[in-house]
Amino acid sequence: METYDAIMSRRSVPKTAERVPDRQTITKLIAAAVRAPTHHITQPWRFIVLAGDSLKELGEAWATGVERLGKRTDGLREKALRAPVVLCVIETPKAHLPKVVEIEEHYAIGAAMQNILLAAHSMGMAAMLRTGATVSIPEVREYLGVTDAELVAGFVYLGYPQEGADERPRSRRTDCNELTEWRGWN
Ligand SMILES: Cc1cc2nc3c(=O)[nH]c(=O)nc-3n(C[C@H](O)[C@H](O)[C@H](O)COP(=O)(O)O)c2cc1C
Repeated sequence: METYDAIMSRRSVPKTAERVPDRQTITKLIAAAVRAPTHHITQPWRFIVLAGDSLKELGEAWATGVERLGKRTDGLREKALRAPVVLCVIETPKAHLPKVVEIEEHYAIGAAMQNILLAAHSMGMAAMLRTGATVSIPEVREYLGVTDAELVAGFVYLGYPQEGADERPRSRRTDCNELTEWRGWN
C-alpha cells in the first residue's frame, strides 16, 4: 500500500478478530516506530508487548486501580482483551539533557505511535491507540515497571480486522481547506 493511501484509509479498530499477530510482525511495527523523527536523536521510547495472560494481568492492574478509587469496574477487565496484542509505548523523555525541549519529546513519541498505526494498517492489520485514565493508574504503571521519569504514552491495541469491519464509515474530519491559509500564492 502506498504511504498516502495508508494515511488516507487508516481507521481506529475498537475490536479485532482473534488471530494473534506473530512476534516478527510486531517487531516490524516497533522498527517502524523507532524511525520516527527525534530531535537530537533522543529516541524517547521503549516498548512492552503484552499478549495472552499478560493482557489479563494488565486488566487486573487496571481494575485494581479503579476499585481503589471507589469506582465501578463492570466489564473493565475485558477491555484489556479487545485485541490479542497490546503494544505499550513508554515515553522516556530526555529533557534533562542540554538543548532537549520537553514538548519535542512528546511530539516524537506521537510520531512513533502514528508510525505503528500506519505500518499496521499497511500490513493489513487492525489497530487502535488508547490512552485515557489508564495510562496514569499507579497499579498499571507498577505492573509495567514504569519509572517516575517515564510516561505511559499509549496502548496500541493490535490484531487483524474482523470480517466486514471496513464497511463502517470513517470518522468525520473538517475539510482541510477550511483550516488552511495560503499566503504568497497567486
Ligand atoms: C493520543 C490519543 C489517545 C487516544 N485515546 C483513546 C482512548 O483512550 N479511547 C478511545 O476510544 N480512543 C482513543 N483514541 C483514538 C481516537 O478516538 C480516534 O483516533 C478518533 O476517534 C478518530 O478515529 P480514527 O482514528 O478512526 O480516524 C486516541 C487517539 C489519540 C491520538
